[in-house]
Amino acid sequence: MICPPDAAIPSHRVIEPPVLYVGTPVALITTLNFDGTPNISPMSSAWALNDRVVLGMATGGQGSENAIREGECVINFAPADLWEKVERLARTTGRDPVPAYKAASGYHHEPRKFEAAGLTPLPSDLVRPPRIAECPLQFEARIVAAHAPGGGPWEIGCEHSFAIIETKVERVHAHDDVTIAGTNYIDVSRWQPLLYVFRHYVASGTDLGRTFKAQV
Ligand SMILES: Cc1cc2nc3c(=O)[nH]c(=O)nc-3n(C[C@H](O)[C@H](O)[C@H](O)COP(=O)(O)O)c2cc1C
Repeated sequence: MICPPDAAIPSHRVIEPPVLYVGTPVALITTLNFDGTPNISPMSSAWALNDRVVLGMATGGQGSENAIREGECVINFAPADLWEKVERLARTTGRDPVPAYKAASGYHHEPRKFEAAGLTPLPSDLVRPPRIAECPLQFEARIVAAHAPGGGPWEIGCEHSFAIIETKVERVHAHDDVTIAGTNYIDVSRWQPLLYVFRHYVASGTDLGRTFKAQV
């Protein structure tokens, strides 16, 4: 039996939002371009399970092409206070020429993303793309699978085509100031990820409590 809604629960209505980005951390994906120079692709369509992080990356971008070709990337998680530097990269692409649909939205080719954003490269241990010093969490990762959405064919350079890229995280680097000293745990009171929420940058809020599986 379906009960009538409690009067205290707000009523819902059907909407057609232009995007479905309810709120995920901003990751800066570093990859190597064909000529060996580094690229940075801001993204937020990422989720983690066990040692895998799955990335949704448009095939019109340079980052997806680089990651699939080179088989490796670094997933750098941005802190909330980095949002203005992230936004400096928002209308850039490592792709040259810029796909027409991106050019029409004001994107331009930027071959030097670190310099453009004012970010600092750090060498990685196990993969060739650099880490980003300003990001407190950096995951060195290898690409273990890449799929077209729904199993359909990729349309490289097309506006709505994207790749579902499964990465295996090989090494995690964490700034000392977001870890609990002497442990492998993140201090969630100090790790403040930058969230991308319906195309706004949002700082995450207070620690409300922990799940039964949390050990600290
Ligand atoms: C905060 C933010 C989140 C983004 N999230 C994604 C995403 O999840 N997937 C994606 O393909 N592009 C995403 N983009 C757009 C890419 O950053 C953009 O297409 C960029 O041109 C990619 O750079 P590249 O072509 O050098 O790889 C996002 C951009 C911003 C600023």
